[in-house]
Order: sequence, then structure tokens, then C-alpha cells
Amino acid sequence: RERTFIAIKPDGVQRGLVGKIIQRFEERGFKMVALKICAPGRAHLEKHYADLSKKPFFKDLVDYMVSGPIIAMVWEGLNAVKCGRMMLGETNPQASLPGSIRGDFSIQVGRNICHGSDSVESANHEIALWFNKNELVNWESAMYTWIYEV
Ligand code: GTP
Ligand code: MG
Repeated sequence: RERTFIAIKPDGVQRGLVGKIIQRFEERGFKMVALKICAPGRAHLEKHYADLSKKPFFKDLVDYMVSGPIIAMVWEGLNAVKCGRMMLGETNPQASLPGSIRGDFSIQVGRNICHGSDSVESANHEIALWFNKNELVNWESAMYTWIYEV
């Protein structure tokens, strides 16, 4: 099964949305494989968003991401990357539909609450960047056959 890296950004933590966001992934049927609160420094976040380093908003983005604690998570399930992105909504909350996390809880692109990997390759890269192997927990969900037909 596919894994994706989902993070709750400092605004999501400060606004008390951690439980609600976790609940959406749980209720959808995804399996939590890793979870921690952390406050990585600029160097780590510059690596995480390395592909955006040439963008004019890059410094603001890193300032934003180091402004408070982050909840880092790995969720597993069928098409977890694509489905996770759909649950997050569009990059710009103004374009995010109600029912998505950004569409329900945020207004501006520079305060869009959450991060989700944009491809299976970046998910693998981000999981390795944010977690040690021993922080990823393999376990069997008792609900598996109630969520998947095989
Ligand atoms: P992530 O899941 O956080 O990676 O967002 P994304 O994949 O939907 O968008 P992208 O990777 O292109 O941008 C990363 C983050 O940079 C966004 O989530 C925003 O927080 C921020 N960002 C993107 N575009 C802008 C912008 O035009 N202005 C500002 N201030 N921030 C932006
Ligand atoms: Mg992105």
C-alpha cells in the first residue's frame, strides 16, 4: 500500500486543528504509520521545499514553517498520495472546495494549514527526510477488510 507524508503547519497547530485533521484521515480509512510533533530548523525546511527555492515567496514560506511546531505524519492506504492531496484541497485556499481541509479552515495561500506530498517519489523522499526508519510503525488494522474488498 502507498504511503504519503502529511504535515500540519504551524498555523494549523496554533489554531487547534490537529485533532480534526487527523480525524479526517482516520475516518477516510487511512492507516497512521508515523506521527510526531517537531520544530525543525530552517535548513531542514529549505531541504523539504528545495524545489521552490527560486520562488519569490521562498523566504516567507520558510519563515512561516519555522514559526511554530509542526505535526509530521505518514498515512498509508490505496492511492494515499493523490487522495491525500484531494483531502487537503488546492494550494490556494481560495480555490479549495468546502469539504477539503484548506477549503474548510483557511483563506490565504501563505497560511494554508497543511502539507501533502505531490507524488509517490516525493512522498518517499519526504518520509525519509522527516522520519527515521524506526519511527515508522508497521501494524495491521482490524478494520482492513471493512475498508478494502480484498
Ligand atoms: P505543500 O503541500 O505545502 O507542498 O503545498 P502545495 O504542494 O499545494 O504547493 P507548493 O508545493 O507549490 O507550495 C508549497 C507552499 O508554499 C504552499 O502550500 C504555500 O504555503 C506556499 N506558497 C505557494 N505559493 C505561494 C505564493 O504564491 N505565496 C505565498 N506566500 N506562499 C505560497
Ligand atoms: Mg508541494
